[in-house]
Amino acid sequence: MRSQSHQSVTGTILVADDQPSNRELLEEFLSAQGFKVITVEDGAAALRQLVTSQIDLVLLDVMMPLLNGFAVCERIKSSPETDLIPVVLITAFSDRDNRLQGIKSGADDFLTRPVDQTELLARVRSLLKLKFRTDELERAESVLFTLARSIEGKDPYTHGHCERLANYSASLGEHLGLPKEEITALERAGIVHDVGKIAVPDAILLKPGRLTEDEWAVIRQHPSVGERICAPLKSFRLVLPIIRHHHEKFDGSGYPDGLRAETIPVSARILQIVDVFDALTTERPYKKALSISDAMQTMREEVSKGWWDPAIFSEFEQLIARDTTGFAKAAAASR
Ligand SMILES: [Fe+2]
Repeated sequence: MRSQSHQSVTGTILVADDQPSNRELLEEFLSAQGFKVITVEDGAAALRQLVTSQIDLVLLDVMMPLLNGFAVCERIKSSPETDLIPVVLITAFSDRDNRLQGIKSGADDFLTRPVDQTELLARVRSLLKLKFRTDELERAESVLFTLARSIEGKDPYTHGHCERLANYSASLGEHLGLPKEEITALERAGIVHDVGKIAVPDAILLKPGRLTEDEWAVIRQHPSVGERICAPLKSFRLVLPIIRHHHEKFDGSGYPDGLRAETIPVSARILQIVDVFDALTTERPYKKALSISDAMQTMREEVSKGWWDPAIFSEFEQLIARDTTGFAKAAAASR
């Protein structure tokens, strides 16, 4: 892994400039600082290079023939493959219009010619540090998601459960008008909520018969184990309460904390409802898949027993009745 201390930030920098002397100057200076430098002479070549090489930062001359720096920057920032790569525009003018156009094109920073080397180095280093932090976060998230999917994969009957839950809970969250960051948390929780099952032995997890009290005690630990696994990820701050509380019940009879009613985070109450819905509409070793209307009837009975939030359930019923979210199709496909 790349070191992230201030002095030793390295990485691959793509320099695009149509003037050979400018390219040479930048290449010489940046190579001497320990960066790997790739130079190209126009915008189109820069875009091609971004496809074939692992680039960590782009230095773009604004005034290039054919595709200028603004246009290249716009392309980089509009593609999900490259939008996290920092782009620094180098311009001969420091006027307001130029800056405005640069900001519109999505540039992360600007430098004015003649380029001050100290300033260049400081900006490049700070942007790269940010880039590597984002890379690391993305890697950590994808490791977690892979782990969660591999646990799901142990049980052929729960195939696709994580993905459906991510979709269902985001739809219900949107329907309830939750803020965007809560929706993102719900999507993530849909995938990772059961990651704590990694600590449950297969003999218990996949046991076809009835579980003993001791075995249940092991199962009941999975929300807090999952919370601990995901806790180091700062971006999972809003996901942690969902993981911890996805088995609480509205009347306080759930686990691990026996929370009741509104003290259970609303996002956890949302995930529970779609989790139960998915379990009911999917075939399991011990039961057939229920039709949507039978599943809703069963859930209605569970709401009256005091298990699920009645207000959120009634919103979920409206959502299902409208069937604008593909619940019916997804549920049917999962059978
Ligand atoms: Fe669970």
